[in-house]
Amino acid sequence: MFQAISHLQTDIEMIGGDFKGKDIVSFDQFGVADLNKLFTVTRQMKQIAENNEPSRLLEGLLVGLLFFEPSSRTFSSFSAAVKRLGGQTIEMQNPEAFSSVSKGETFEDTIQVMEAYTNAIVLRHRFSGAAKQAARAANFVPVINAGDGNNEHPTQTLLDMYTLYERFGRLDNLTGLLAGDALNSRTIHSLLRGLSLYENNTMYVLSPRRLQLSRDDFVSLQDRGIRLIEIHREQDIPHDCDFWYWTRVQKERFASVEEYQQAQSEIVVASPDLLEKYARKDMILMDPLPRVESVDPAVDADERAVYLRSQIRNGVYTRMALLALVLGRI
Ligand code: CP
Repeated sequence: MFQAISHLQTDIEMIGGDFKGKDIVSFDQFGVADLNKLFTVTRQMKQIAENNEPSRLLEGLLVGLLFFEPSSRTFSSFSAAVKRLGGQTIEMQNPEAFSSVSKGETFEDTIQVMEAYTNAIVLRHRFSGAAKQAARAANFVPVINAGDGNNEHPTQTLLDMYTLYERFGRLDNLTGLLAGDALNSRTIHSLLRGLSLYENNTMYVLSPRRLQLSRDDFVSLQDRGIRLIEIHREQDIPHDCDFWYWTRVQKERFASVEEYQQAQSEIVVASPDLLEKYARKDMILMDPLPRVESVDPAVDADERAVYLRSQIRNGVYTRMALLALVLGRI
């Protein structure tokens, strides 16, 4: 039913300054001007959410949250984003168990039913390419990719880049360390696309060799101008990073528990000792979460750790902004 696709998308519509009605499938659709616009709206959304200001921006609109794969942050923050702006949601989690998908309804039919009841569909799915397939199936409403397999997670990248922008005031001339499961982490795949839009970014990618970026991704991303340096040992972590971005090993993408455990045993964990040895005093430590043996909870008290602070909160503000723009209310 679902076809494996390359991590680099083709035949998708660029946002080109106009979000209204657009499917949001890949970070490849964004340009610098689109991010500037979205971040300007995000600042307004943050005001609304932080001050609990009643908003009617999405009044009268319904957003369908269709999550075929588990989620804590993306699901809850999209739900919060709609409700903060006065809209409503239809929420379907695990449709394979709790909808007519369990009776054999096709993916395309499910999408067309959901679009008959809503003004936009937010979709998470375990298959790469599912968001694009949903966008093709939906005739009337935009589809937003909330994570498709090990492919992309563009709205995570919006909040990650907003977090970086808030901290550093720029998205160029950054040096970062992206660690963990680079092969399967959709958040890393989208973030590298986002950072490649800006000049002079250098990203170190720390992973076991078996979890390094696919060669297709590595070459295609480098062609965009971002400097990628793959490292495989703790000792090679540079001392001058502006940020670290840690990710877990994606257990659900492995063929067997044994393969997963082998990969996990080769991972470098972000610990107080690691920060002490290699991290600048003014860097930030990010993690899209959930963390599973990736970041030691002993790091949480360190002020540089933003994953349970600004990073998760920015998920609501950026998704409020994206929905307001895509639904044409701003
Ligand atoms: N970061 C992220 O996508 O988390 P969830 O899987 O909990 O949505």
